[in-house]
Amino acid sequence: MRNILLATALCLGFALSLEAQVVTVTEGRFHKGDNPAWSQASFKDSDWQVLSLEKDWNQQGVSNSRGYGWYRIHVVIPSSLKKGSTNKVLLDLGPIDDTDETWLNGTRVGKTGTNPEDPQGFLEEWDTPRRYVVDPKLIKWDKDNVIAVRVYNGGDPGGFYARPVFIGKPSLEDFVSLSMERQTDQYKAVLHTTLPTRGTVKVVTHDVMTDKVVGEREWNTFLSHRTDVSFIIPTQGSQRVTVTYQDDTFGETLDASVTAPYILTPPAPATPRYNGPMVFGVRPGSPVIFRLAFSGEKPMKYAVEGLPEGVTLDPDKGVLSGSVDKAGDYPLVFIAKNAKGEARAEFTLKVGSQIGLTPPMGWNSWNCWGLSVSQEKVMSSAAALINRGLADYGYAYMNIDDAWEADERTPDGRIVTNAKFPDIKGLADWLHSNGLKMGIYSSPGDLTCGSFLGSLDHEQQDAETWNEWGVDYLKYDWCGYRKVFNPDRDHSVAAYARPYLKMQQYLRQQPRDIFYSLCQYGMADVWTWGHAVDANSWRTTGDITDTWSSLYRIGFEQQVGLHPYAGPGHWNDPDMLVVGKVGWSNNLRDSRLTPDEQYTHISLWSLLAANMLIGCDIAQIDDFTFNLLCNNEVIAVNQDILGHQAHQDVVEDGMQIWSRDLYDGGIAVGIFNLNEASVPVDLAGCLGKIDIENVDTVRDLWRQKDIPMGTYNIPPHGVLYVKVAAGNVTK
Ligand code: GLA
Repeated sequence: MRNILLATALCLGFALSLEAQVVTVTEGRFHKGDNPAWSQASFKDSDWQVLSLEKDWNQQGVSNSRGYGWYRIHVVIPSSLKKGSTNKVLLDLGPIDDTDETWLNGTRVGKTGTNPEDPQGFLEEWDTPRRYVVDPKLIKWDKDNVIAVRVYNGGDPGGFYARPVFIGKPSLEDFVSLSMERQTDQYKAVLHTTLPTRGTVKVVTHDVMTDKVVGEREWNTFLSHRTDVSFIIPTQGSQRVTVTYQDDTFGETLDASVTAPYILTPPAPATPRYNGPMVFGVRPGSPVIFRLAFSGEKPMKYAVEGLPEGVTLDPDKGVLSGSVDKAGDYPLVFIAKNAKGEARAEFTLKVGSQIGLTPPMGWNSWNCWGLSVSQEKVMSSAAALINRGLADYGYAYMNIDDAWEADERTPDGRIVTNAKFPDIKGLADWLHSNGLKMGIYSSPGDLTCGSFLGSLDHEQQDAETWNEWGVDYLKYDWCGYRKVFNPDRDHSVAAYARPYLKMQQYLRQQPRDIFYSLCQYGMADVWTWGHAVDANSWRTTGDITDTWSSLYRIGFEQQVGLHPYAGPGHWNDPDMLVVGKVGWSNNLRDSRLTPDEQYTHISLWSLLAANMLIGCDIAQIDDFTFNLLCNNEVIAVNQDILGHQAHQDVVEDGMQIWSRDLYDGGIAVGIFNLNEASVPVDLAGCLGKIDIENVDTVRDLWRQKDIPMGTYNIPPHGVLYVKVAAGNVTK
């Protein structure tokens, strides 16, 4: 058994013969723990376990959270790799969860991320592909080489997970990088090189609104060893600047572009306008917690017609509270009045067995604060949700993710918060008094993904504790349950559903409504059975991050075909939003998605009837992010009461069309350009592809205006998001 890997690597090496340009390795030897001797080429690893490099170690039966593990990858490197434009060799290891330090035949060649004992502390880099360029002197040509990789896992899953390791020739990007950043009214582009070379730089500036070229320049440049060449490009307004570097040595090109955030949506009127859902579901006797979502100048006075007995309104805050014993549909009229005018909105309070009748909207701490979340940070975002006006659009859940838990339960087994949450009940009370709701996080395992206490064997007690605190939402994350679950023995849906059914039983016994959000990354096609464990939503994928590759994979690949499984009360959850300031730690940064990608993200989540959980620090929200999150017409599609999730209708030339039917007979259509360049699209032709004919105008949902048929440029990774009104649908 032990020799299989060596045999694989040897076979590969020989199979590829001397002409091989890339060597592929799919397995490595693995050992848990940490020992510097494991970096050495001579170390005997023949009794180590063999792991696939294409699956994380948890999936292969290794449990090792917040711990080290080493891979030793044996590979024959053919001398044919000596040929080419440089004499260097590339170890392309792919992404590793979470950090790595790598040696080739005993010499250290790279490190990505930092470990807990490093001066900076733990900084995960689970999504970063590792590409280490190595000196050919380190290589034993046509013989066995050892790549030793020390991995630290800060929270499950861990290790190599995405794809095989490739060994080949490096390309331009391994020596030269081109980065761009936006400064106040200019862009700074930097070419950084580790190799002397020369080439041509070209800068093209487009006006984003018209997509016209407004500036163009080109010049030759020489890059000497380890120098940065930086240049400043002045800009005005909403422009996209693209810099292209054509390298003479490699004959390859690098490009980078930056787009200034541009706001498409007109500001909300000063008069009151209702932007919230048209229905709200509550179980008989459970607390009604609902905030009337009206935008417009404050102060505002609120009134409600048709309120059932037991429910009262705070006329200054617009908050409903109380409870209704008798099941039934209660038609209400919401009224809001301010100095500029008055607005009315029809609404139905549905008292019955079903909650979560429209996708949940709110905030979650994970994508911004990660494990550094605290009560103070939750309060700060909650206050901003109200003060900045996001609550006027229906955002209501304030969900605390991992890292609120104390290290130990009390002697009677009760879960308690850690010092960062001095008064969780007080926090819930404050949220409720403002018509907001509080969410919490746990795991069916003994430990959570971040290695905090989970609910295993304490399910009932925890559900009761959360009820006492006033929890309205539970994200229940599989992670630590891997230790209990044995996939070799039992692949049945029942085995995957078991821990979720257990918690469901106790949650539903509580005298309050707790939105039940499953987080198990889509295993065993959870969308086909999530409703059977009475889940209100289920994550369909692994974790999202703020990159185009993540958004593309999760949004455009992994949601295909899931529309039949969503509907009122049960939703597919493609993970939380990555717009605004995120960072998964105390160090926040602007989302790395371009403005166009952010429009695409929110449009797609609106179409997908996805959970709309803001992932950024709301206190630091800028106008652009506010515009993305608070467009009432985009939200109305997400919250549409039919609950019909969009389906992927067309995939053609890097374009995709997704559409969904709406309760008013209209159709929401997203035309997405997944290409790297702008594409002019014929709107009538696109609609024709989904059998919508004879339309004169459609509603541009981002610009909130009717637009005629014609040709529209969709920016790279951008979207044209429209609604075809019922009267226009003749298909
Ligand atoms: C998993 C989940 C994330 C987050 C973290 C917390 O990775 O998928 O959304 O909850 O755990 O540790």
